[in-house]
Amino acid sequence: MTRKLFVTTALPYANAAFHIGHMMEYIQADIWVRFQRMQRDGDAPREVHFVGADDTHGTPIMIAAEKEGITPQEFVAKIAAGRAQYLDGFHIAFDNWYSTDSPENVELSQGIYRKLRDAGLIQTKTVDRFYDPVKGMFLADRNIKGECPNCHAKDQYGDNCEVCGSAYQPTDLINPYSVFTNATPVLKPSEQYFFKLSDPRCYNFLKEWLNTPGRLQPEMVNKVSEWLGEAGEKLADWDISRDAPYFGIPIPDAPGKYFYVWLDAPVGYLASLKNYFGKKGWDYEAFLKDPSTEQIHFIGKDIVSFHLLFWPAMLKFADHPTIERMRVAVHGHLTVNNEKMSKSRGTGISPLRYLNLGMNPEWLRYYIAFKLNAKVEDLDFTGEDFVARVNSDLIGKYVNIASRCAGFIAKKFDGKLATSLSNNAQEWIKRALVTPEGVERQATIAANYEAREFGKALREIMEIADFANQYVDENKPWILAKDEAKLAELHDVCTTALILFRQLSILLSPVLPGVAANVAKFLNDDKFDWAQTDVASGAVWNAMLGRTIGAYDHLMKRVEPKMIEDLFDNPQAAAAQAAAPAVKAEKPAKAKAAPAVAVTETGIEVMAPEITVDDFFKVDLRIAKIVNCEHVDGSDKLLRLTLDAGEGRHRNVFSGIKSMYQPEDLIGKLTVLVANLAPRKMKFGVSEGMVMAASAADEKANPGIYILNPWPGAEPGMRIR
Ligand code: MSP
Ligand code: ZN
Repeated sequence: MTRKLFVTTALPYANAAFHIGHMMEYIQADIWVRFQRMQRDGDAPREVHFVGADDTHGTPIMIAAEKEGITPQEFVAKIAAGRAQYLDGFHIAFDNWYSTDSPENVELSQGIYRKLRDAGLIQTKTVDRFYDPVKGMFLADRNIKGECPNCHAKDQYGDNCEVCGSAYQPTDLINPYSVFTNATPVLKPSEQYFFKLSDPRCYNFLKEWLNTPGRLQPEMVNKVSEWLGEAGEKLADWDISRDAPYFGIPIPDAPGKYFYVWLDAPVGYLASLKNYFGKKGWDYEAFLKDPSTEQIHFIGKDIVSFHLLFWPAMLKFADHPTIERMRVAVHGHLTVNNEKMSKSRGTGISPLRYLNLGMNPEWLRYYIAFKLNAKVEDLDFTGEDFVARVNSDLIGKYVNIASRCAGFIAKKFDGKLATSLSNNAQEWIKRALVTPEGVERQATIAANYEAREFGKALREIMEIADFANQYVDENKPWILAKDEAKLAELHDVCTTALILFRQLSILLSPVLPGVAANVAKFLNDDKFDWAQTDVASGAVWNAMLGRTIGAYDHLMKRVEPKMIEDLFDNPQAAAAQAAAPAVKAEKPAKAKAAPAVAVTETGIEVMAPEITVDDFFKVDLRIAKIVNCEHVDGSDKLLRLTLDAGEGRHRNVFSGIKSMYQPEDLIGKLTVLVANLAPRKMKFGVSEGMVMAASAADEKANPGIYILNPWPGAEPGMRIR
């Protein structure tokens, strides 16, 4: 039976740009989805539909639009227009991104409501609702703050507590106040529509639903069981109506009443799916009724009550066909430098700023995945940890395998891999892919991806990478390459290393989709899929033997610690920017530091005072060849260059160009050396001269530093005049 998956992430409020916490949720879900898309059930590829939408309704958006003098629809459209740059930027592959303010959502929400009503689960009661006497309007739960009735945390919203996670009515708050006017709200009677969660049917259903093995994380089962109480006595009816003026969906047969936003928000999952199926011409109803369809919601720990009480109860009594095949995967929150992010406001890092700094989105995907497990635990982003993790695993272990071996295949073997493997090579591949106890690591990795234990999956993948590197270290292709008699051995070693590199790339594809696509292209694979991880049949290497591969292009740069400084250098601006509702605010604020040097009207550095030609000739500029280049341990700015300026000796020169160049970019190139500069003793050794490089006057705005490179024909030792 082909598994059919309907996967969603929580629908973000359309009142602000995404913050890094949102990206964490999308990255988690996207990795799981991409893993699923690589699977087959029997001969058929697994069917996966991954949808999202903006959560548009409710008072906050209505008020925000009012402030800007536009309609809520216009406001929401502006936010929606800004979504793609984040989603595309971080390789989040939603099939559809829609909106809760849509005809499908109106129809579905009203349809569910009618079924609940027919089932006798809707009741009206006249209740006292909070009213702001200064503003003259009923107050939404989130317009009222006060002390949590459960844990007594201060300044909690009227619907649920961000500290202890409990859900309640705004009237339960202790010392409530209106967020608009600070006035103490007064109670005013109003007829409200309630979903009768206290009906024994709800308790009986939820109890059984929650406890179905495999449906929920154990800590969630415990938490929600507490909310249910011994016999459902703790379940209170849920007020699902709001009075006009309200931006929302009208309640059928109830003039002036609208659905509370949390009623129609999760229905937005279905609306997005239905919209998507409509565009594709597929049968939405049939898909949901199909017994092989599974419905999976990824959400954060702060919105559990809505997803584990109200939403399943709504679906159950509206006869939603997938209710018994629905799961909810709850994650903890991302913190930045151990600081909590508030619900609608980001802190620390803006995702767009990250991208605009030229930081690779797949670094973040890897880092987050590495820290994720299937528990409801918070995870912390720390700059140093990020740099160390990405550079050590992705650059030092993974990319390193290809960059040490691919070149020889191109240079010595016309781009063709060996047609057979030595026994030793086959043994190494098996040792890398199968544990001594006979457990296939790739199967373990698949099980961990499926269970959302991404950290475990990546640790196992890095163990395979360790084997591959150990193999390369022991067989030293760079030594073999110097000996014509050892060509066959070189071919065997490089082919083996690339076979393992390909396996690693397949296994990493859910996390690093961009890199994996480039590797597939370089290795001449159509695409990567999990069938390619079959070890027992020998498919793993048979697929590669004798294959012609493309030219190796550097796959991924290392993270420069400087980038992290820039990511954080103006945290207030970044946070303010993430909180700002308007699309124009989505450009990351650049730190406005005055340039260190005087500049002209055209923005360039002011010209130096005039000199004579004799002055100029005091400086001896020479063409030099960079014969070697390496990183300097302990320095995040410098590269160590070994230069040949035609003197019959080599010079050692340090240059602050590490942020711009990789050593391998420079080796073999010609450049310009200031050759008669007095040697200078530095922390890392003596620098015998200086290489020339260009940089902008305002280094903050334009931190680039560009080394000079002569036209062809220049030779080491030539003087520049
Ligand atoms: N609109 C509601 C969800 C409706 S679902 C039918 C909402 N929106 S939200 O924008 O506040 O949050 C969207 C998702 O982002 C939630 O799952 C929330 O838990 C998640 N996150 C918000 N902050 C987060 C972190 N700091 N870290 C990880 N996820 C975070 O709630
Ligand atoms: Zn609380």
